[in-house]
Amino acid sequence: MQVLHSIAELRAALAGQTGTALVPTMGNLHAGHVSLVELARQHGQPVVASIFVNPMQFGAGEDFERYPRTLDADCAKLKAAGCDLVFAPDVAEMYPVPQTFTVQPSASLTQDLDGAFRPGHFSGVATVVLKLFNLVQPRVAVFGKKDYQQLLVIRELVRQFNLPIEIVAGDTLREPDGLAMSSRNGYLDPSERMQAVRLHAELAAIQAAVQSGERDFSGLTATACRHLKMAGWRVDYVELRDVENLQLPVSESRHLVVLGAAWLGKTRLIDNLAFDLFVQD
Ligand code: PAF
Repeated sequence: MQVLHSIAELRAALAGQTGTALVPTMGNLHAGHVSLVELARQHGQPVVASIFVNPMQFGAGEDFERYPRTLDADCAKLKAAGCDLVFAPDVAEMYPVPQTFTVQPSASLTQDLDGAFRPGHFSGVATVVLKLFNLVQPRVAVFGKKDYQQLLVIRELVRQFNLPIEIVAGDTLREPDGLAMSSRNGYLDPSERMQAVRLHAELAAIQAAVQSGERDFSGLTATACRHLKMAGWRVDYVELRDVENLQLPVSESRHLVVLGAAWLGKTRLIDNLAFDLFVQD
């Protein structure tokens, strides 16, 4: 497995490749990332993973500085997962001059949910992902469903810029108690870690209630927020949306997603569950 830090080396290594599968990451990899690399291997070759903690997608006061940089351990995991090439540029390589040309995703996709709590975040994500797509020129790119709003932003980026890239979505991997795997779980102290599964539990309770026929969506999400707050969480949102476009469900909506973001101490966790309105027999 090659580990490259410069764009020139990357372009030389990938010259002539037409079937590349890309897994963009910010490093500090866990089993969820490994599963995305394994998924990428089923869709293309060579498999390229990028590791870049992108300053443009972090707001003031967010965790850019403390985000763990663990390149050696990440490379060992990627090699074991069958990755062919790691691209790990530094900030000056990705942003050699101030980035004054940026991607501004449509407000309809980014004005609420995470977009409302992290202004500019999805512009930073879309801009760096477009750069990575230009550099790697993959045929396929793999993103996790855990960042569900991000996944829809990337799909729309590809559609609106006519990029010849297939976006493949990887399922969220969970710890045995149901907590979604995340690099940020490492910030949790032992007592927060025990609490952390509650976000998933509240989302699962909403899914079960809806699939049992409950249709008071705002009542369900308000109850989940109340439960989380009573347990000491600071809740950004718990919302039920149409899975296709993240708009509020309409009477025709059949496929929903319940999404939540909440803080345990200094750690912000997000999770979501997509499900059909009616359980299939
Ligand atoms: O999901 C992530 O890890 C990041 O947002 C991404 C897609 C690598 C862009 O920096």
